[in-house]
Amino acid sequence: MTGPRLRVPTAADADRWSELFDDAAVMRFIGSGEVRDRPYYAGLVQRQQELAGATGLCLFSVVVDGEVVGFAGIHPWSHPWGPTGSLEAGWRLGRRFWGRGLATAAARAAVGLARERGVDRLVSMVHAENAASAAVARRLGMTPSALHRSPDGAPVQEFGLLLG
Ligand SMILES: CC(C)(COP(=O)(O)OP(=O)(O)OC[C@H]1O[C@@H](n2cnc3c(N)ncnc32)[C@H](O)[C@@H]1OP(=O)(O)O)[C@@H](O)C(=O)NCCC(=O)NCCS
Repeated sequence: MTGPRLRVPTAADADRWSELFDDAAVMRFIGSGEVRDRPYYAGLVQRQQELAGATGLCLFSVVVDGEVVGFAGIHPWSHPWGPTGSLEAGWRLGRRFWGRGLATAAARAAVGLARERGVDRLVSMVHAENAASAAVARRLGMTPSALHRSPDGAPVQEFGLLLG
């Protein structure tokens, strides 16, 4: 197996993301935990294409052996709560691709792209009970910086990473 590759998501990837993430276990610690429908992922992909065009960074499709296994990348934290205006590193894989080091490898590649583009600081927002995701953040060298409460009432740990 070769390492994961990042590429800007294609319109077809919306179907793939929708299939991979149509899983309560994947969505458990994301927002209200709701599984999202295909039009949601079509919009998400379109926003990433626009972001990539404007900044060179986005939530990229993670490709392993020619197959999309999820996403990882950098996007603006645009919610009105938490570190509004910060750039967030994010990652989400289909359940069958967990436990192989793929999320950390893909996220590390995305952080490298951010560094190349002169980004000086990244955050990651992780539900306080999402141990697998917090472990990814720590493996990237991120450290806890603030504890927030989401509008749903969930405790969300902010991690920070200085690049340079
Ligand atoms: C968060 C998420 C991406 C983490 O995935 P993951 O596969 O656990 O993370 P990594 O890529 O770092 O892989 C680490 C695991 O792979 C194992 N592994 C196996 N082979 C490996 C290898 N060659 N190299 C590195 N790790 C390897 C590690 O031992 C570790 O397993 P462990 O947790 O049982 O100790 C995944 O749980 C997920 O998609 N969750 C749902 C979405 C989500 O919550 N996203 C984050 C929102 S903040």
